[in-house]
Amino acid sequence: MKTTRIIVDKNVNNSKNYEQAVDLLKNGEVVAFPTETVYGLGGIATSDEAVAKIYEAKGRPSDNPLIVHIGTIEEIDRYVTDISEKAKKCMATFWPGPLTIICKVKPNVLSAKVTAGLDTVGLRMPNHPVALQLLRQLGEPVAAPSANRSGKPSPTEGIHVEEDLQDRIPLILDGGATGIGVESTVIDLTLQQPTILRPGGVTKEMLEEVIGPVLQPTHIEQKAGAPKAPGMKYTHYAPNAPVYLIAKDANEISKAIEELHEQNKKVALLAPDSYEDVAADYFFSFGADTQQDMALHLYHALRACDATDADIVLATITSMDGVGSAIMNRLEKSAGGNWYKVK
Ligand code: TXA
Ligand code: MG
Repeated sequence: MKTTRIIVDKNVNNSKNYEQAVDLLKNGEVVAFPTETVYGLGGIATSDEAVAKIYEAKGRPSDNPLIVHIGTIEEIDRYVTDISEKAKKCMATFWPGPLTIICKVKPNVLSAKVTAGLDTVGLRMPNHPVALQLLRQLGEPVAAPSANRSGKPSPTEGIHVEEDLQDRIPLILDGGATGIGVESTVIDLTLQQPTILRPGGVTKEMLEEVIGPVLQPTHIEQKAGAPKAPGMKYTHYAPNAPVYLIAKDANEISKAIEELHEQNKKVALLAPDSYEDVAADYFFSFGADTQQDMALHLYHALRACDATDADIVLATITSMDGVGSAIMNRLEKSAGGNWYKVK
């Protein structure tokens, strides 16, 4: 299958651009499209055929459920029941936006493959003009995981989708680089205590202002318990070379690189712009030294390592406040929890 990538201008509401995508989706095909977090690989969520194609194109394990994307708030009653007051508040405050809300699913409406056998489903209304235009023109719920091959960093540019899914899907709507760079926050509001299953663009602090106390288990705590978001148990966001975390300390990084060079290893360093002069073999920037920039550049930098012959990747860390907890969640996974220890 040949993959077409068409450039859609975010600022031009031209329904013609979307017709091809809508037709494909209505025929049970899959289409990649931008959201404000990362690119998604969408198929109509009521179609077994379409949802099966999503899992197949990604190489995704079938026990990992998909998020359902909607274009209007009115349609939620078609898919979910027992929507709590807290869920309603979150929808009103954060939608459209990077928040996925786990609700109780209505039986026999969505494809059973979407929920992977759970009695809940994650809903989200993305805040991206291309995604919203597509969803509204289609008028159907769209199941969409990130549009990468399973295990790879999520795509933040149309070209990343092409790298991973070339000839596996018919169409990519390319709306340029996404705005946030890490995936949506997943919050489970069917539990006794609101619980963040995956940190993301909407932070714990932001949620607590609206619904009061929210639990956010750490990566380690999540690993110890039964995985609530099934996706959390798989290796993720990993370039081919092993990733090691390191403190944002020029001295420490220089020593690490020296040691690795003594072992004849080539090093890719992922760090903010100001570390560019440290003598790594390859340098991929996290942008300015802010969490916003780091979120925006993280997946691009991780992906870029695969175009090099680096033997090891060193990635600098950030603090756990704000969107930092989402960044560290992804970085710890890509590193399998490994830190570089200077001897
Ligand atoms: O920002 C995003 O959320 C992007 C864009 C495309 O919307 N999508 C995304 O989807 O990241 P995906 O499939 O890569 O990640 C969905 C995560 C997985 O960890 C999955 O296990 C979890 O959400 N999840 C989905 N449905 C769930 C459910 N009913 N209960 C618990 N976890 C669920
Ligand atoms: Mg994903």
